Amino acid sequence: MSSNDAKANIGVVGMAVMGSNLARNLASREGNTVAIYNRSPEKTHEVVKNHPEANFIASDTIDEFVASLAKPRTAIIMVQAGAGTDAVIEQLKKRFEPGDIIVDGGNANFHDTIAREAKIASTGIHFVGAGISGGEEGALKGPSIMPGGTVESYETLGPILASIAAVAEGEPCVTHVGTDGAGHFVKMIHNGIEYADMELIGEAYDLLRNVAGYTPAQISDLFATWNEGPLNSYLIEITIDILKHVDAETGKPFVDIVTDQAGSKGTGVWTVQTALDLGVPVGGVAEAVFGRAVSSKRSQRDAVQALGIERPTAPRVDDSFVDDVAKALYASKIVAYAQGFDAIIAGAEKYGWNIDKGAVAKIWRGGCIIRAQFLNVLADAFETNPNLATLLEAPYFAQAIRDGEDAWRRVVITATQAAVPVPGFATALSYFDSLNVDRLPAALVQGQRDFFGAHTYKRVDKPGTFHTLWSGDRSEVQTD
Ligand code: ATR
Repeated sequence: MSSNDAKANIGVVGMAVMGSNLARNLASREGNTVAIYNRSPEKTHEVVKNHPEANFIASDTIDEFVASLAKPRTAIIMVQAGAGTDAVIEQLKKRFEPGDIIVDGGNANFHDTIAREAKIASTGIHFVGAGISGGEEGALKGPSIMPGGTVESYETLGPILASIAAVAEGEPCVTHVGTDGAGHFVKMIHNGIEYADMELIGEAYDLLRNVAGYTPAQISDLFATWNEGPLNSYLIEITIDILKHVDAETGKPFVDIVTDQAGSKGTGVWTVQTALDLGVPVGGVAEAVFGRAVSSKRSQRDAVQALGIERPTAPRVDDSFVDDVAKALYASKIVAYAQGFDAIIAGAEKYGWNIDKGAVAKIWRGGCIIRAQFLNVLADAFETNPNLATLLEAPYFAQAIRDGEDAWRRVVITATQAAVPVPGFATALSYFDSLNVDRLPAALVQGQRDFFGAHTYKRVDKPGTFHTLWSGDRSEVQTD
């Protein structure tokens, strides 16, 4: 099918929904000719038939596809993660030359991306793991793109990706995040933050419904007002629509006819696993992942409810409760982002990536699921001081925490009295309290560790490492 003369400056392998949408997006931009290929040719034919306007060079075989690419050849793989991606990488590797670029635009685990890049590097072919966020619509209209790989590959790839990325405040939502797996790492953290953000919005909804007594439609209206202020975000926007939606069959609010067991595809779990490895607390993401897990334990929920332990009556609240919930949501959201960026900083350090935090915040302002006004302020914070010990230290966020702190505590107290679970709000508040206190009970934990395992401890009053002879005369010895 490919023409002998015309060459494409970019190719896409995989014509399922994400791949075909990305190819159409590429083809719609001035200057791009897009080579397309899918293992099963029918899918490619279908895309060509449905989009005659698109500047495609379609191929039925991988050989034709590779031949249709101008050099340096650049191909974006959009196939099933794992075995599918590996199969296509092998096919391209055999046909590509040094300097050509293979991009994995799927949701790969960053460890796999690092391994794949290391394996290909000796051939001189560039391998780029690129996180792409924004779902099907983003792929078509403008996603947020997080490429890793070599700096050299970005010289070719950068302008092409910039042509299709979302635009926020006049800037394309793409940046070279760092080498090898940095792009997929940052995409993973993005998804982790997304989990936390969704959990927090869910908790706010639950409190408004079950403590303040609002209907879903009233909460939708309230969220619409919140969306005019600092809480403005895509996730709030879609929540407004979801809460307003009425089930056609029953006439009930849509949210009441959906099974309350949340699924997940794994990037939240990866974020928590990675954070555990890095020793970075990401309670907001962890509670979101666990929250979905608890929701899915139907038999345990039934068993506990069968005990007949009466739920307390929700305490009466006045209108100020609604403002309190907004403030608690905002403060908890700041904590979730602070933790997410801590994970990015720790990952960058461990894997040797030079990640510009401000640039990451900027490319999340458009196209992706966590896009929000908030990210402008966040980008400013890191641009003003790239060495913030924590995002909470940045003056704007410190002020927001100061302003919201009392409300945050009242909400967590009220939720507890009303037996409305708020693992996201509560973990965020506890995290803040842990940072904002001079002495933590970790001193006692150190004592326990020393007692049963001679793990030693440091003293507050002098240097050195010490052990108490707990099973002897309890005198102290200095171990170094
Ligand atoms: P989506 O979720 O977007 O529908 P997916 O399941 O992630 O897609 O990926 C499906 C795509 O991966 C299809 O293009 C599929 O090719 P076929 O249409 O031929 O099934 C492609 N794919 C899966 N495994 C593959 C493999 N081993 N080699 C090549 N392509 C593969």
